[in-house]
Amino acid sequence: MIRLSSLFQTLLVVCSIWRGVEGQMIGQYDNRHRIWARQNGNGNNNDNNNNNGQPDTSAFNIVNGRIFTPGLGIILAPQPFTPMGGDFLHVAIDVSGDGKLKVPPQNRDDQLTQVFNFTMFLTSNTLQKNFTISNITTTTPPFADIMNQEPGSTVKHVNFEWPDCLVGDGKEAIGETARGDYNITIHQNFRLNGSDFYSIFNLPISVTNSIEQFPGANQLLTNPAPGPLSANGGRMNCDMISNPMMSFSALVQSVNNPPGQPFQDIQIETSGSGQGGQVGGPGQANPSSNGNGNGNSNGQADAQGQLGAAYKSASIQYADVAFTAAVAVLGISVGW
Ligand SMILES: *[C@@H]1O[C@H](CO)[C@@H](O)[C@H](O)[C@H]1NC(C)=O
Ligand SMILES: *[C@@H]1O[C@H](CO)[C@@H](O)[C@H](O)[C@H]1NC(C)=O
Ligand SMILES: *[C@@H]1O[C@H](CO)[C@@H](O)[C@H](O)[C@H]1NC(C)=O
Ligand SMILES: *[C@@H]1O[C@H](CO)[C@@H](O)[C@H](O)[C@H]1NC(C)=O
Ligand SMILES: *[C@@H]1O[C@H](CO)[C@@H](O)[C@H](O)[C@H]1NC(C)=O
Repeated sequence: MIRLSSLFQTLLVVCSIWRGVEGQMIGQYDNRHRIWARQNGNGNNNDNNNNNGQPDTSAFNIVNGRIFTPGLGIILAPQPFTPMGGDFLHVAIDVSGDGKLKVPPQNRDDQLTQVFNFTMFLTSNTLQKNFTISNITTTTPPFADIMNQEPGSTVKHVNFEWPDCLVGDGKEAIGETARGDYNITIHQNFRLNGSDFYSIFNLPISVTNSIEQFPGANQLLTNPAPGPLSANGGRMNCDMISNPMMSFSALVQSVNNPPGQPFQDIQIETSGSGQGGQVGGPGQANPSSNGNGNGNSNGQADAQGQLGAAYKSASIQYADVAFTAAVAVLGISVGW
């Protein structure tokens, strides 16, 4: 197992050097490849938007402007490949499991399905940048836990003040500054049908519109207030919010993806805690389970088929992840 693991990890590294993996999701789903295929097979993630002048968003799962992720979060804004600028980056994300989950101040503990947390980073492989957008460090947005802000709202808004190295206009400043192509990288910890998962999703944007050194005072009327800001209320120094870059293979090893897209592939079940709401949570027979009619074991049975399931030992988990990722990369190379 250990030898296999390193073989596949080597393969993975070789392949990803040879040709970066396309797509927005880190790793892949198990046996329901519908979304994997769309996100990683058909995606055009180069920046020559040669699709009648429109970016090619076929690699995403977008339904009525709602972008589905490998987690419970559904992104409402921005749309992929949007050129951005202005005072701050605005992200809107539905954290309610499409209306099925409770949000604070209601108790959101549910033994079957619940959000644990979201963290976000503004990352660029090409520029080797990794800025903190939201990392649950303070109680001040955007570093606060987004689940606890805007109580009662199923949509959470993150207003991230562009840091100083992104100041500029158009593409001119590219090269001299850190302006250029980025991903809004969304990390999600959540429980789905009784099993815990961790996924990473990349939403590409380009920071090419005008960003002024001194943002207008009006932005402070925005709720939640844009941040982080420097001590004198200006843009933050980029070094202050920079994180090390993780290698692609380390990222793939870190995830523990669900067996399929929540909502589209997997029907979300909540226990409802006997407080009304959902009828008949646990106890539905699941074709892939042992049929013992227990909601929790349904989740686990499904989860074991997929890469890096929650209950495996670390080494087996990594071997699986590397294996599936290597196969996926090879799959793409064949058609290249
Ligand atoms: C997010 O949730 C996971 C799972 O409960 C936990 O291990 C992790 O510490 C949490 N992260 C933060 C930043 O709170
Ligand atoms: C954004 O993420 C995708 C998928 O992980 C990756 O292929 C692409 O290179 C990333 N873009 C940048 C600018 O780093
Ligand atoms: C969160 O991000 C800020 C800015 O990058 C950093 O100073 C802080 O140490 C981070 N917190 C954690 C827990 O990583
Ligand atoms: C960015 O930094 C965070 C915090 O250290 C880390 O969890 C994440 O994996 C990093 N992302 C990339 C793409 O390196
Ligand atoms: C969650 O439960 C539903 C209904 O029983 C089922 O269709 C689905 O496959 C389950 N998903 C997982 C990941 O267990």
